[in-house]
Amino acid sequence: MKYFPIKNTNLNVSNIVMGNMRINHLSHHEIEHLIRTAMDEGINFFDHADIYGGGECEALFADAIQMSPSIREKIILQSKCGINSKDNYFDFSKEHILESVDGILKRLKTDYLDLLLLHRPDPLMEPEEVAEAFDELHNSGKVRYFGVSNHNPMQIEMLQKYVSHKLVVNQLQLSIAHTALIDSGIALNMNIDQSVNRDSSILEYCRLKDITIQAWSPYQSGFFEGPFLGDLEKYPKLNQVIDELAEKYRVTNTAIASAWITRHPANIQVVLGTTTPQRIKDACAGSEIVLTRKEWYDLYKAAGNIVP
Ligand SMILES: NC(=O)c1ccc[n+]([C@@H]2O[C@H](COP(=O)([O-])OP(=O)(O)OC[C@H]3O[C@@H](n4cnc5c(N)ncnc54)[C@H](OP(=O)(O)O)[C@@H]3O)[C@@H](O)[C@H]2O)c1
Repeated sequence: MKYFPIKNTNLNVSNIVMGNMRINHLSHHEIEHLIRTAMDEGINFFDHADIYGGGECEALFADAIQMSPSIREKIILQSKCGINSKDNYFDFSKEHILESVDGILKRLKTDYLDLLLLHRPDPLMEPEEVAEAFDELHNSGKVRYFGVSNHNPMQIEMLQKYVSHKLVVNQLQLSIAHTALIDSGIALNMNIDQSVNRDSSILEYCRLKDITIQAWSPYQSGFFEGPFLGDLEKYPKLNQVIDELAEKYRVTNTAIASAWITRHPANIQVVLGTTTPQRIKDACAGSEIVLTRKEWYDLYKAAGNIVP
Protein backbone atom coordinates (compact mmCIF):
# COMPACT_ATOMS: atom_id res chain seq x y z
CA MET A 1 0.00 0.00 0.00
CA LYS A 2 1.27 3.42 -0.86
CA TYR A 3 0.93 6.15 1.77
CA PHE A 4 1.50 9.90 1.50
CA PRO A 5 0.96 12.90 3.74
CA ILE A 6 -2.05 15.14 3.22
CA LYS A 7 -0.30 18.48 2.92
CA ASN A 8 -0.70 20.92 5.83
CA THR A 9 -1.76 18.10 8.18
CA ASN A 10 0.05 15.40 10.12
CA LEU A 11 -2.06 12.68 8.44
CA ASN A 12 -0.20 9.98 6.54
CA VAL A 13 -2.91 8.37 4.41
CA SER A 14 -3.32 5.27 2.26
CA ASN A 15 -3.95 6.10 -1.38
CA ILE A 16 -6.92 3.69 -1.33
CA VAL A 17 -9.80 4.77 0.90
CA MET A 18 -12.78 2.69 2.02
CA GLY A 19 -15.99 4.60 1.27
CA ASN A 20 -18.97 3.60 3.40
CA MET A 21 -21.93 4.85 1.36
CA ARG A 22 -23.23 1.38 0.48
CA ILE A 23 -22.53 -0.67 3.64
CA ASN A 24 -26.14 -0.51 4.87
CA HIS A 25 -26.88 -3.20 2.26
CA LEU A 26 -24.73 -5.65 4.26
CA SER A 27 -25.19 -7.65 7.45
CA HIS A 28 -23.21 -6.81 10.59
CA HIS A 29 -20.93 -9.78 9.92
CA GLU A 30 -20.35 -8.76 6.28
CA ILE A 31 -19.45 -5.19 7.29
CA GLU A 32 -17.01 -6.55 9.87
CA HIS A 33 -15.38 -8.72 7.19
CA LEU A 34 -15.20 -5.79 4.74
CA ILE A 35 -13.53 -3.48 7.27
CA ARG A 36 -11.15 -6.19 8.44
CA THR A 37 -10.14 -6.88 4.83
CA ALA A 38 -9.55 -3.18 4.22
CA MET A 39 -7.38 -2.84 7.31
CA ASP A 40 -5.45 -6.04 6.56
CA GLU A 41 -4.71 -4.64 3.09
CA GLY A 42 -3.30 -1.46 4.67
CA ILE A 43 -6.22 0.94 4.24
CA ASN A 44 -6.10 3.41 7.13
CA PHE A 45 -8.67 5.93 5.85
CA PHE A 46 -12.48 5.63 6.04
CA ASP A 47 -14.86 8.02 4.28
CA HIS A 48 -18.37 8.72 5.55
CA ALA A 49 -21.15 11.29 5.23
CA ASP A 50 -23.99 12.07 7.59
CA ILE A 51 -26.46 11.27 4.79
CA TYR A 52 -25.22 7.78 3.85
CA GLY A 53 -28.12 5.50 4.64
CA GLY A 54 -29.68 8.45 6.45
CA GLY A 55 -26.89 8.19 9.05
CA GLU A 56 -27.20 4.41 9.33
CA CYS A 57 -23.87 3.74 7.59
CA GLU A 58 -21.87 5.62 10.24
CA ALA A 59 -23.62 3.74 13.05
CA LEU A 60 -23.19 0.36 11.35
CA PHE A 61 -19.50 1.09 10.77
CA ALA A 62 -18.89 1.99 14.44
CA ASP A 63 -20.63 -1.20 15.59
CA ALA A 64 -18.80 -3.44 13.14
CA ILE A 65 -15.36 -2.03 13.92
CA GLN A 66 -16.21 -2.18 17.66
CA MET A 67 -15.12 1.40 18.08
CA SER A 68 -12.92 1.96 21.11
CA PRO A 69 -10.09 4.39 21.88
CA SER A 70 -7.50 1.85 20.76
CA ILE A 71 -9.27 1.16 17.43
CA ARG A 72 -9.93 4.88 16.95
CA GLU A 73 -6.25 5.79 17.06
CA LYS A 74 -5.42 3.24 14.34
CA ILE A 75 -7.73 4.79 11.73
CA ILE A 76 -8.32 8.11 10.00
CA LEU A 77 -12.00 9.05 10.00
CA GLN A 78 -13.55 11.53 7.61
CA SER A 79 -17.19 12.53 7.30
CA LYS A 80 -19.21 15.17 5.43
CA CYS A 81 -22.11 17.44 6.15
CA GLY A 82 -24.01 20.29 4.48
CA ILE A 83 -26.81 18.39 2.76
CA ASN A 84 -30.36 18.32 4.07
CA SER A 85 -31.32 15.02 2.47
CA LYS A 86 -34.84 14.96 3.87
CA ASP A 87 -35.93 18.07 1.96
CA ASN A 88 -33.20 17.97 -0.70
CA TYR A 89 -31.27 21.21 -0.29
CA PHE A 90 -27.82 22.31 0.85
CA ASP A 91 -27.19 23.96 4.19
CA PHE A 92 -23.90 25.54 5.27
CA SER A 93 -25.46 27.44 8.18
CA LYS A 94 -23.48 27.39 11.41
CA GLU A 95 -26.34 25.72 13.21
CA HIS A 96 -26.61 22.92 10.64
CA ILE A 97 -22.86 22.26 10.58
CA LEU A 98 -22.58 22.10 14.39
CA GLU A 99 -25.64 19.91 14.76
CA SER A 100 -24.50 17.59 11.99
CA VAL A 101 -21.08 17.04 13.55
CA ASP A 102 -22.63 16.18 16.91
CA GLY A 103 -24.77 13.57 15.13
CA ILE A 104 -21.78 12.19 13.21
CA LEU A 105 -19.65 11.82 16.36
CA LYS A 106 -22.47 10.12 18.21
CA ARG A 107 -23.09 7.63 15.40
CA LEU A 108 -19.40 6.93 14.87
CA LYS A 109 -18.92 6.52 18.64
CA THR A 110 -15.94 8.85 18.72
CA ASP A 111 -15.21 12.27 20.14
CA TYR A 112 -13.31 13.61 17.12
CA LEU A 113 -13.15 13.49 13.33
CA ASP A 114 -9.81 13.72 11.56
CA LEU A 115 -11.45 15.48 8.62
CA LEU A 116 -14.78 17.16 8.04
CA LEU A 117 -15.79 18.01 4.46
CA LEU A 118 -18.58 20.27 3.24
CA HIS A 119 -20.40 17.87 0.93
CA ARG A 120 -21.77 20.00 -1.95
CA PRO A 121 -21.55 23.77 -2.41
CA ASP A 122 -24.42 25.79 -0.94
CA PRO A 123 -25.04 28.92 -3.06
CA LEU A 124 -26.67 30.48 0.01
CA MET A 125 -23.57 29.99 2.16
CA GLU A 126 -22.34 32.79 4.33
CA PRO A 127 -18.64 32.03 4.68
CA GLU A 128 -18.35 33.96 7.95
CA GLU A 129 -20.81 31.49 9.49
CA VAL A 130 -18.86 28.51 8.17
CA ALA A 131 -15.72 30.07 9.67
CA GLU A 132 -17.38 30.41 13.07
CA ALA A 133 -18.62 26.82 12.97
CA PHE A 134 -15.17 25.51 12.00
CA ASP A 135 -13.50 27.52 14.80
CA GLU A 136 -15.91 26.10 17.36
CA LEU A 137 -15.43 22.56 16.09
CA HIS A 138 -11.66 22.88 16.10
CA ASN A 139 -11.41 24.62 19.46
CA SER A 140 -13.60 22.01 21.11
CA GLY A 141 -11.42 19.23 19.67
CA LYS A 142 -14.28 17.77 17.61
CA VAL A 143 -12.61 18.21 14.20
CA ARG A 144 -8.89 18.27 13.43
CA TYR A 145 -8.88 19.33 9.75
CA PHE A 146 -11.35 20.67 7.21
CA GLY A 147 -12.02 20.28 3.50
CA VAL A 148 -14.71 20.35 0.83
CA SER A 149 -16.27 18.12 -1.76
CA ASN A 150 -17.49 18.93 -5.28
CA HIS A 151 -16.27 22.55 -4.97
CA ASN A 152 -14.82 24.72 -7.73
CA PRO A 153 -11.86 27.09 -7.27
CA MET A 154 -13.85 30.25 -6.66
CA GLN A 155 -16.10 28.54 -4.11
CA ILE A 156 -12.98 27.42 -2.26
CA GLU A 157 -11.44 30.92 -2.51
CA MET A 158 -14.59 32.42 -1.11
CA LEU A 159 -14.65 30.06 1.87
CA GLN A 160 -10.92 30.36 2.43
CA LYS A 161 -11.13 34.16 2.60
CA TYR A 162 -12.99 33.76 5.93
CA VAL A 163 -12.09 30.30 7.22
CA SER A 164 -8.85 30.47 9.21
CA HIS A 165 -8.17 26.74 8.85
CA LYS A 166 -6.56 25.66 5.58
CA LEU A 167 -8.96 23.59 3.44
CA VAL A 168 -6.86 20.51 2.78
CA VAL A 169 -9.09 18.14 0.75
CA ASN A 170 -11.51 18.36 -2.17
CA GLN A 171 -13.44 15.16 -2.93
CA LEU A 172 -14.44 15.06 -6.61
CA GLN A 173 -15.82 12.53 -9.08
CA LEU A 174 -13.08 10.88 -11.14
CA SER A 175 -12.69 7.54 -12.95
CA ILE A 176 -11.24 6.50 -16.31
CA ALA A 177 -14.80 6.71 -17.64
CA HIS A 178 -15.56 10.05 -15.95
CA THR A 179 -12.67 12.40 -16.65
CA ALA A 180 -14.29 15.84 -16.42
CA LEU A 181 -11.36 17.04 -14.26
CA ILE A 182 -8.88 16.30 -17.04
CA ASP A 183 -10.67 16.67 -20.37
CA SER A 184 -10.72 20.39 -21.02
CA GLY A 185 -7.09 20.78 -19.99
CA ILE A 186 -6.07 18.31 -22.72
CA ALA A 187 -8.36 19.66 -25.44
CA LEU A 188 -7.84 23.36 -24.73
CA ASN A 189 -8.84 25.75 -27.50
CA MET A 190 -10.59 23.15 -29.62
CA ASN A 191 -14.12 23.42 -30.85
CA ILE A 192 -15.25 20.11 -29.36
CA ASP A 193 -17.31 19.07 -26.35
CA GLN A 194 -14.21 17.82 -24.53
CA SER A 195 -12.82 21.39 -24.50
CA VAL A 196 -15.63 22.81 -22.40
CA ASN A 197 -14.15 23.80 -19.06
CA ARG A 198 -17.00 22.80 -16.77
CA ASP A 199 -14.98 22.50 -13.57
CA SER A 200 -13.00 25.76 -13.72
CA SER A 201 -9.63 23.97 -13.80
CA ILE A 202 -10.19 22.53 -10.33
CA LEU A 203 -7.51 19.86 -10.77
CA GLU A 204 -4.80 22.43 -11.45
CA TYR A 205 -6.15 24.72 -8.71
CA CYS A 206 -5.99 21.95 -6.11
CA ARG A 207 -2.40 21.16 -7.06
CA LEU A 208 -1.46 24.83 -6.85
CA LYS A 209 -3.04 25.20 -3.42
CA ASP A 210 -1.78 21.89 -1.99
CA ILE A 211 -5.31 20.52 -1.68
CA THR A 212 -5.46 16.71 -1.82
CA ILE A 213 -8.01 15.40 -4.31
CA GLN A 214 -10.05 12.33 -3.42
CA ALA A 215 -11.68 10.51 -6.36
CA TRP A 216 -15.20 9.28 -5.61
CA SER A 217 -16.95 6.56 -7.65
CA PRO A 218 -13.67 5.32 -9.17
CA TYR A 219 -15.35 2.45 -11.06
CA GLN A 220 -18.51 4.22 -12.22
CA SER A 221 -19.39 6.25 -15.27
CA GLY A 222 -21.79 9.19 -15.32
CA PHE A 223 -23.84 10.05 -12.27
CA PHE A 224 -24.29 6.55 -10.79
CA GLU A 225 -24.83 4.95 -14.22
CA GLY A 226 -23.13 1.78 -13.01
CA PRO A 227 -19.62 0.35 -13.21
CA PHE A 228 -17.77 0.52 -16.53
CA LEU A 229 -15.60 -2.44 -15.54
CA GLY A 230 -16.86 -5.45 -17.47
CA ASP A 231 -19.46 -3.38 -19.35
CA LEU A 232 -18.55 -4.58 -22.85
CA GLU A 233 -21.62 -3.08 -24.45
CA LYS A 234 -20.85 0.55 -23.54
CA TYR A 235 -17.07 0.34 -23.06
CA PRO A 236 -15.67 -2.47 -25.28
CA LYS A 237 -12.38 -0.74 -26.16
CA LEU A 238 -11.74 0.54 -22.63
CA ASN A 239 -12.30 -2.91 -21.14
CA GLN A 240 -10.03 -4.45 -23.77
CA VAL A 241 -7.14 -2.13 -22.88
CA ILE A 242 -7.80 -2.53 -19.13
CA ASP A 243 -7.78 -6.33 -19.49
CA GLU A 244 -4.51 -6.28 -21.48
CA LEU A 245 -2.84 -4.21 -18.76
CA ALA A 246 -4.35 -6.41 -16.03
CA GLU A 247 -2.68 -9.37 -17.70
CA LYS A 248 0.63 -7.53 -18.04
CA TYR A 249 0.70 -6.51 -14.34
CA ARG A 250 -0.89 -9.81 -13.19
CA VAL A 251 -3.73 -8.06 -11.41
CA THR A 252 -7.49 -7.62 -11.97
CA ASN A 253 -9.30 -4.91 -13.91
CA THR A 254 -10.17 -3.19 -10.60
CA ALA A 255 -6.47 -2.72 -9.86
CA ILE A 256 -5.85 -1.11 -13.25
CA ALA A 257 -8.83 1.25 -12.84
CA SER A 258 -7.40 2.28 -9.46
CA ALA A 259 -3.84 2.61 -10.79
CA TRP A 260 -5.06 4.95 -13.54
CA ILE A 261 -6.12 7.39 -10.81
CA THR A 262 -3.11 6.93 -8.52
CA ARG A 263 -0.70 7.37 -11.48
CA HIS A 264 -1.59 11.05 -11.55
CA PRO A 265 1.21 13.07 -9.92
CA ALA A 266 -1.30 15.03 -7.80
CA ASN A 267 -1.34 12.10 -5.30
CA ILE A 268 -5.05 11.43 -5.64
CA GLN A 269 -6.81 9.12 -3.16
CA VAL A 270 -9.19 6.49 -4.59
CA VAL A 271 -12.43 6.39 -2.58
CA LEU A 272 -13.90 3.02 -3.44
CA GLY A 273 -17.39 1.89 -2.53
CA THR A 274 -17.39 -1.84 -3.12
CA THR A 275 -19.21 -4.09 -0.69
CA THR A 276 -17.14 -7.10 -1.78
CA PRO A 277 -13.98 -7.93 0.22
CA GLN A 278 -12.31 -9.46 -2.85
CA ARG A 279 -12.74 -6.19 -4.78
CA ILE A 280 -11.07 -4.31 -1.92
CA LYS A 281 -8.10 -6.68 -2.25
CA ASP A 282 -8.15 -6.23 -6.02
CA ALA A 283 -8.14 -2.44 -5.74
CA CYS A 284 -5.32 -2.45 -3.20
CA ALA A 285 -3.23 -4.53 -5.60
CA GLY A 286 -3.26 -1.45 -7.84
CA SER A 287 -2.11 0.95 -5.12
CA GLU A 288 1.58 0.75 -5.98
CA ILE A 289 1.42 0.07 -9.72
CA VAL A 290 2.93 2.95 -11.66
CA LEU A 291 1.47 2.83 -15.16
CA THR A 292 3.74 4.17 -17.87
CA ARG A 293 2.83 7.49 -19.43
CA LYS A 294 1.80 5.66 -22.62
CA GLU A 295 -0.41 3.22 -20.70
CA TRP A 296 -2.14 6.06 -18.86
CA TYR A 297 -2.86 7.81 -22.18
CA ASP A 298 -3.90 4.56 -23.87
CA LEU A 299 -6.57 4.10 -21.20
CA TYR A 300 -7.69 7.71 -21.50
CA LYS A 301 -8.09 7.34 -25.27
CA ALA A 302 -9.77 3.94 -24.98
CA ALA A 303 -12.47 5.62 -22.88
CA GLY A 304 -13.35 7.65 -25.99
CA ASN A 305 -11.36 10.82 -25.36
CA ILE A 306 -9.27 12.73 -27.84
CA VAL A 307 -5.59 13.45 -27.41
CA PRO A 308 -5.15 16.15 -30.06
N1 LIG B 1 -18.41 13.37 -2.30
C1 LIG B 1 -19.42 12.90 -2.98
O1 LIG B 1 -20.27 13.66 -3.50
C2 LIG B 1 -19.56 11.42 -3.15
C3 LIG B 1 -20.52 10.88 -4.01
C4 LIG B 1 -20.61 9.49 -4.14
C5 LIG B 1 -19.76 8.67 -3.41
N2 LIG B 1 -18.85 9.22 -2.56
C6 LIG B 1 -17.90 8.37 -1.77
O2 LIG B 1 -17.23 7.54 -2.69
C7 LIG B 1 -17.38 6.17 -2.31
C8 LIG B 1 -17.40 5.31 -3.54
O3 LIG B 1 -18.54 5.59 -4.35
P1 LIG B 1 -19.18 4.44 -5.22
O4 LIG B 1 -19.65 3.35 -4.34
O5 LIG B 1 -20.13 5.05 -6.16
O6 LIG B 1 -17.85 3.96 -6.00
P2 LIG B 1 -17.41 2.71 -6.82
O7 LIG B 1 -16.41 1.97 -6.03
O8 LIG B 1 -17.00 3.25 -8.15
O9 LIG B 1 -18.71 1.84 -7.04
C9 LIG B 1 -19.05 0.78 -6.20
C10 LIG B 1 -20.17 0.02 -6.84
O10 LIG B 1 -19.70 -0.51 -8.08
C11 LIG B 1 -19.78 -1.93 -8.03
N3 LIG B 1 -18.56 -2.45 -8.66
C12 LIG B 1 -17.30 -2.07 -8.41
N4 LIG B 1 -16.45 -2.75 -9.21
C13 LIG B 1 -17.22 -3.56 -9.98
C14 LIG B 1 -16.94 -4.49 -11.00
N5 LIG B 1 -15.68 -4.75 -11.38
N6 LIG B 1 -17.96 -5.13 -11.58
C15 LIG B 1 -19.23 -4.90 -11.18
N7 LIG B 1 -19.56 -4.04 -10.19
C16 LIG B 1 -18.56 -3.36 -9.62
C17 LIG B 1 -19.85 -2.28 -6.57
O11 LIG B 1 -20.50 -3.54 -6.45
P3 LIG B 1 -20.05 -4.52 -5.27
O12 LIG B 1 -20.43 -3.83 -4.01
O13 LIG B 1 -20.86 -5.73 -5.53
O14 LIG B 1 -18.59 -4.73 -5.38
C18 LIG B 1 -20.64 -1.14 -5.99
O15 LIG B 1 -22.02 -1.32 -6.22
C19 LIG B 1 -18.66 6.13 -1.46
O16 LIG B 1 -18.67 5.05 -0.58
C20 LIG B 1 -18.55 7.44 -0.73
O17 LIG B 1 -17.69 7.28 0.37
C21 LIG B 1 -18.73 10.57 -2.42
